[in-house]
Amino acid sequence: MTRKRVVVIEGEDAAPEAVRPALAVIDALGLPIEWLHPPVGQAGIERTGSPFPEEARRAIDTADATLFGATSGKSALALFYLRWGKGTYANVRPVRHFPGARSPLARPEGIDLVIVRENLEDLYVAAEGDLADLAPLGLRSLTAGRPVHELGPGRFALKVITEAGTRRVARFAFELARRRRAHGRPGRVTCGTKHNMLPRSDGMFREVAQAVAAEHPDVPFQSLIVDDLAHRLVATPHDFDVVLLPNLYGDVLSDAAAALVGGLGLAPSGCFGDGAAYFEPAHGTAPDLAGKNAINPTATLLSAAMLLEHLGFADAAARLEAAVAAVYAEGRVLTPDQGGTATTTQFCEAVAHALG
Ligand code: IPM
Ligand code: MG
Repeated sequence: MTRKRVVVIEGEDAAPEAVRPALAVIDALGLPIEWLHPPVGQAGIERTGSPFPEEARRAIDTADATLFGATSGKSALALFYLRWGKGTYANVRPVRHFPGARSPLARPEGIDLVIVRENLEDLYVAAEGDLADLAPLGLRSLTAGRPVHELGPGRFALKVITEAGTRRVARFAFELARRRRAHGRPGRVTCGTKHNMLPRSDGMFREVAQAVAAEHPDVPFQSLIVDDLAHRLVATPHDFDVVLLPNLYGDVLSDAAAALVGGLGLAPSGCFGDGAAYFEPAHGTAPDLAGKNAINPTATLLSAAMLLEHLGFADAAARLEAAVAAVYAEGRVLTPDQGGTATTTQFCEAVAHALG
């Protein structure tokens, strides 16, 4: 089997404490994977004077994938490169309940949905300015009934939705729904937008999703207003399979949905583009846990399982997920966020042990 090369970017605060023992767990699987550790963030600054040196960029460009911890700033340039530089437009965030994980719901068993978040557009084009800059455009607020620049002094942020950007992520979501159906899941897509207030931007996202739905007549499709979707995600999470969202709603709702199944400590993600993919827990760097060996590494382990699947090691990915599930089911070695007293490394050792 050909050797795979994976860049590892540990990130800041407590994130490296989850990444390092997670790599040890993967190593125990005995796969032909070479980990590359280019200097990024603080290490990059110390070694080269830059938090994201050319060497790190080249490593990402030539590797098969990247595993990212989490960043509170110093590794942000690397994260931006992994998203916008590599065009990873589909952010896949599984929300699955493992029996034994702490949920605020009475019956979380069986929750198994995936958020597909558009990863590059929307408010994340991060183009902001002063309202006064808009005066030459004479752009009118539909609700206020007068030019936007007259609403200030103040600021604006642009929400940008493109047809091509929406079509590719919508197609990704429908293809994922088909693959899930092949594995016994319902295989349907729910799209969430605020098309009632934003008929041109969110409205177009919805129309493109509807057009892509027509290309996939075998995949049931539903379009909801995003606040209704938010309510239903909490009230009836079992009804959902693949949830397609523009970037910011996807960011917000993926954290909310994670809370249903045990919290951010269990929420993995994988970001996919045409020629690139990277994997990272959906959570931040947990600075309050830094240096305590207490961060829950499950999100990192499950992100690594998505990485393994992407690299073609599907059996190993399934084994890793089953081992994580076994540790939760047994309930003896859990981290403090799950009501346990285990350290991060003890949890990872329990997972390695469950791998057999
Ligand atoms: C996430 C994070 C990022 C985002 C931050 C770190 C920029 O919250 O991956 O969900 O907003 O996308
Ligand atoms: Mg987020």
